[in-house]
Amino acid sequence: MILSSRMERLQNTELLMLMELASSKDIISFAGGFPSPDAFPAKEMALATQEVFKHSSKEALQYASTSGFEPLRQLIADRTNKKQNMTLNLEEILITSGSQQSLDMFGKLLLDEGDIVLCESPSYIGAINAFNAYQPEFIEVTTAEDGINIESLKNILSLKGKDIRMIYVIPDFQNPTGRVWSLEKRKAFMAVMSAYEIPIIEDMAYYDLAYEELDRPTLSSLDKKGQVVSLGTFSKIFCPGLRIGWIQASRLILDQIRLLKPNMDLSSSSIAQRQIYQYMMMYDLEAHIEKVNGIYKRRRDLMLDIIEGEFPKGIQYMKPKGGLFTWVEMPRGKDAKVLLELALKEKVAFVPGNSFFPKSNVPESMRINFSCMDDSKLEKGGKILGAIMHRFLEG
Ligand SMILES: Cc1ncc(COP(=O)(O)O)c(C=O)c1O
Repeated sequence: MILSSRMERLQNTELLMLMELASSKDIISFAGGFPSPDAFPAKEMALATQEVFKHSSKEALQYASTSGFEPLRQLIADRTNKKQNMTLNLEEILITSGSQQSLDMFGKLLLDEGDIVLCESPSYIGAINAFNAYQPEFIEVTTAEDGINIESLKNILSLKGKDIRMIYVIPDFQNPTGRVWSLEKRKAFMAVMSAYEIPIIEDMAYYDLAYEELDRPTLSSLDKKGQVVSLGTFSKIFCPGLRIGWIQASRLILDQIRLLKPNMDLSSSSIAQRQIYQYMMMYDLEAHIEKVNGIYKRRRDLMLDIIEGEFPKGIQYMKPKGGLFTWVEMPRGKDAKVLLELALKEKVAFVPGNSFFPKSNVPESMRINFSCMDDSKLEKGGKILGAIMHRFLEG
């Protein structure tokens, strides 16, 4: 079999390996990015599903429209308007089969071989891989704890502006670092970007997973010219198994997306869209998110206590204000891949951070997920990992 040239860029099977590792039962995994199954509203979903079948079984079992189930699109628009003080209507929302599909769509829509994509350094591996299929060049923009570095963004734009086809950013509780952009960075970023016609892809996967009050207007709410595309998902706030996300963008952009989507899946799942809609009609999604955040905040605190108490002193780590991850950097010269090999022997897993840099080499970094284990497993795994790290750094 002769594979297409794009497959060369996709031989990095790390993401698949990680998904498998995270789901293997005998491993204590800090590797996945999974929401906690304890938080899934299983009983409520069963009742919502019964209602869907009572009233609209035929429609639920049929293909959906390309743009998605209108009442759900309207609920998403209303929710965004309320939270972000916007005036969206349902024409500016299109349902997707998870935001992973949205990422692939924007790769397909915007990228030809050799085109430049800007992203934070580091960035979400699933986005890097999705874009990689379209053979672009990545330029990483350095990113600090409070967000993207505006000076380096300006430099890159002035040098390469005309060849840049998109910038992909995760301003809220980023995967992999847990960073959140400050209000100043959000405003400065939009002020700089508005001088260019480059589409901004704002990934909002973790937007609602905040553990404290912060002034965080979305980039799309600061956008005056229809330049920002926001990607939403029910995966992290609700249930990833439903595989439902959405794109919030101008009608012009969504018209193009509507040309692509049928080729990819004909439509997103009708049942799943109606289940979510019904759940939102019968129950309070915001209360559910609040409950989930309570669980994750407690786990974040526990994880930070473990790092503080059990991990060696020579490391640096992030204290995330939301989301599912913290980011650890060992001293320079240490390789987290070697540490992972040692950890796996003791049935503990995490993700070496280097996978999240499309170009840079930061082998000492690691991503630690704290959301999908109960307290005792978190403590046990943290202690094992801490002890291995001590031996690794001292040895
Ligand atoms: C930043 C980010 N974007 C998108 C996704 C994909 O999410 P979905 O389940 O909606 O496809 C993930 C999943 O981990 C993510 O971390």
